[in-house]
Order: sequence, then structure tokens, then C-alpha cells
Amino acid sequence: MKEWYDAIHEAQNVEKLEEIRILVFGKKGVLAAEFVKMKNASNEEKAEIAKDLNNHKTTLMNEFTARKIVLQTLELQEAMKAESIDVSLFSSSSQSGALHPVMETMDKIVEYFNSMNFAVKTGKMVEDDFNNFEALNLPKYHPARDMQDTFYFKDEMLLRTHTSPVQIRTMMNSKPPIRMIAPGAVFRRDYDITHTPMFHQVEGLLVDEEGKVSFANLKYILEDFLKYMFGEVEVRFRPSFFPFTEPSAEVDISCVFCKGEGCRVCSKTGWLEVLGCGIVDPNVFEAVKYKNVSGYAFGLGVERFAMLIHQIGDLRSLFEGDIKLLEQFR
Ligand code: DAH
Repeated sequence: MKEWYDAIHEAQNVEKLEEIRILVFGKKGVLAAEFVKMKNASNEEKAEIAKDLNNHKTTLMNEFTARKIVLQTLELQEAMKAESIDVSLFSSSSQSGALHPVMETMDKIVEYFNSMNFAVKTGKMVEDDFNNFEALNLPKYHPARDMQDTFYFKDEMLLRTHTSPVQIRTMMNSKPPIRMIAPGAVFRRDYDITHTPMFHQVEGLLVDEEGKVSFANLKYILEDFLKYMFGEVEVRFRPSFFPFTEPSAEVDISCVFCKGEGCRVCSKTGWLEVLGCGIVDPNVFEAVKYKNVSGYAFGLGVERFAMLIHQIGDLRSLFEGDIKLLEQFR
């Protein structure tokens, strides 16, 4: 039997050990053969031999189990060593990412107004009726609410349709003077080549003492801003209507595609509309209980700016995560 004890101790791997197990304990193994041989012995001898064999069986099995645990542990250590990954190594094919064109454009807009001392304010995407509409001079059931198709929740809550409610929140929480912009996501029930249910706007508001803020101030800063964004373009102001400003204007730049000659993008007009703005309506100041102040406000769509800057034809492509499109902005 000694040779089998030695064999178990000397087995160098689990596979070899298993071969030994079959040779010793298997149906046709060494132990089974010894028990068969026992048949020819006398009864007294049988008892002796059986006791001896059973002792060996138990001890051999214990030795076997102990050796197996040792070998398994060693093999696991080997495997872990071989399969370990050095996470500090540089990958050979790393790719650098890039800012999404919408975020890049937003950053540039924010950068301009920061340089002009406008603070960045944020509001809430889930807004209430007061901030999104009423305080902005859009009373309940007023037809002007039709200008924006709204996602409503219960209890007069909604997804903000524009960043203008941040004007209201800011004025409710602080005293004039105010110089702020509010960049952020807005939501409308719309989906076609020029509309997506979520897009981004930047709102601007400047408030100071009565008589201190004029349309000329507004005109100056927006012209300067648009030249910063688009380079040497013509800028024109067109009378328009917004409930929260009076007077109101829409701002056009000369078409960046045809330089004002007239093309498909500008519908042969030579102009592209890029902004809404105006002098803050007294009803808005009344809603936030501001007295003896004057101010201007403006709002713009960031995706529209990004599309004009990068000459992107379909607004929806900005939200599809198409790597081929995004790679061009690296
Ligand atoms: N809130 C307007 C919109 O979503 C944009 C806008 C226009 C904001 C004129 C203004 C403004 O502050 O004065 O269409």
C-alpha cells in the first residue's frame, strides 16, 4: 500500500491525482482487488484483513482529499496569475471623445455672456403653470398659449416649454439689478425636420432701475453676441410679438449659407431667424412684485445655432447618437 500513499503525495496536479483515485478506489482498483483476494482466506483471517483494508481505505481517502485541496489551491493561484489584467496599462487603441455639437455651442454662448457679466441660473424642468405661463403674461386660456404645445402632468404641473420661467424664479428669489442667462433643456409636443420633443434654449434677462435699460442696449449686446457666434454677419431686428416683452422683436442674421444671396435654407430671403427678444412687459414685473425697474430679455434655441454653425440639415440627427456624424466634431 505504501506506494499509493507516495503516489498521492507526489501527484503534481489535480488531473494526475484523479488518475490515482481511479486506480486505488475505482471498481477495478487496487482496494477492490484486495477485497476479492480476501475470499480465499479463513474466517478469522478475513476479519483481520478486512479491518486492515478498511483502515487503509479511510486513511488513503483522507490523504487524497487533503492533497486535492492543496493542488486545487495551487492551480487556482496559477490561473489567477496568468489571467490577471493590469488595469494601469494604456490601451493600444484608445479613442478620444468630443463634446456634442449642441453642448459645444451652448458652452460658447455661455462663455460670451459670462464675459459680459451675466450669471448662469438654472430652474426646474418640471415646472408649474405660474412660472412657465402666468407670470410671463400668459393667462390661463389665453390664445398665446397655443404658440407652445405643452406636455402636461396632473395638478397644473408641466415640462417647461421654454427657459423663460427661470427669469421668474430668479426675480422672485433676488432683488434687482439682475443680469442672468439660463441655459437648459425644454420640451414641446413636436416632431419633424425642424422640431424635436426636447431641445435646448438659452434665456437672457437684464433688469435695472427704471429708465436705465433701453432697446438700444439690447440691440448692441445681441449684435455683438451674434458676430461672436457667426463671424461677420449682417444683423436685423424685425417687430414681433411675445407675451412677456413689449415691444418685441425677432432677430435675423444674413444667411450663413448664401451670404444673403438667397438660397433653399433661407427660403430665398437671404435672412435666417435666430432669436426672440424685447423689453420686459410691465405685467411680468408686476407678477414678481418688482417696482420702478426696466429690463430686456431674449431667448434662443441652441440646436438652431449649432445647425447653422456646423451646417447640419436635419435637427433630429443631433439626437440620434450616430457615431459617423459625431466623429466629425472631434
Ligand atoms: N420663450 C420664447 C420661446 O420659447 C423665446 C423668447 C423670446 C424668450 C423673446 C424671451 C424673449 O425672453 O424676450 O419661444
